[in-house]
Amino acid sequence: MDLLKVIKERKSIRAFTPDPIPKETIEEILKLAILAPSAINLQPWDLIVVTGEERERLSRRLIKAYKEKKISCGPGNVKPLPKTFAKRGAKTLELMNPFFEEMGVDPNQFINEGSCNFYGSPVAILLCLDDSFPNARFVDIGLILGYLLLAAHVSDLATCPIGLITAYQEEIKDTLNIPESKNVVIGLALGYPDEKSPINRFKSQRDDFEKFVRWIE
Ligand SMILES: Cc1cc2nc3c(=O)[nH]c(=O)nc-3n(C[C@H](O)[C@H](O)[C@H](O)COP(=O)(O)O)c2cc1C
Repeated sequence: MDLLKVIKERKSIRAFTPDPIPKETIEEILKLAILAPSAINLQPWDLIVVTGEERERLSRRLIKAYKEKKISCGPGNVKPLPKTFAKRGAKTLELMNPFFEEMGVDPNQFINEGSCNFYGSPVAILLCLDDSFPNARFVDIGLILGYLLLAAHVSDLATCPIGLITAYQEEIKDTLNIPESKNVVIGLALGYPDEKSPINRFKSQRDDFEKFVRWIE
């Protein structure tokens, strides 16, 4: 598949069918993703693939934790976001709203509980980083995440990165027996898109190119 087409078409999907993904397909995607570059070729990632009853158990635990603690999307800002950034988030939610109305769901509940449930996808991937690494290695995890998103799209699979769950480190580690030294940097929902769900018709926009780029010549 043409890379430009893949980059342009890929988007986050927030409703999946429960159809299982063949293990070989998941492996193919992961084998492409690990071709991502990393500093000093350290390949600092640990990729935990959770399926079946274990994935269900993980979601049940995450939803329970969310209901108790109510930590929702976008945790961890160290100070109030400058207006430009806050406005972009608000605009995205505003553009999603008609789809939530059509579905008759509460947007916050849909996003927060949906994220904890990996939006019903049959596969959840947890991208972990050993706590011996400095923050700079988050870049490497971001890169392999990007590769994963694109590789999945090539295999006609859909994805949604799930950052929300990282607020529930302890619950995840406890449920899946992940060593204390491994931090979950980002989760990923992987599966086949539910074509009938209105929210999957939503395509996010980007701000004007000129706002991001400053040339110094
Ligand atoms: C690091 C990261 C964390 C994210 N966390 C969540 C999440 O917890 N729940 C969710 O519904 N979407 C999550 N997303 C998806 C973003 O909302 C989405 O990428 C953004 O709105 C742009 O839309 P697009 O992916 O369709 O281009 C996350 C994306 C990234 C890159």
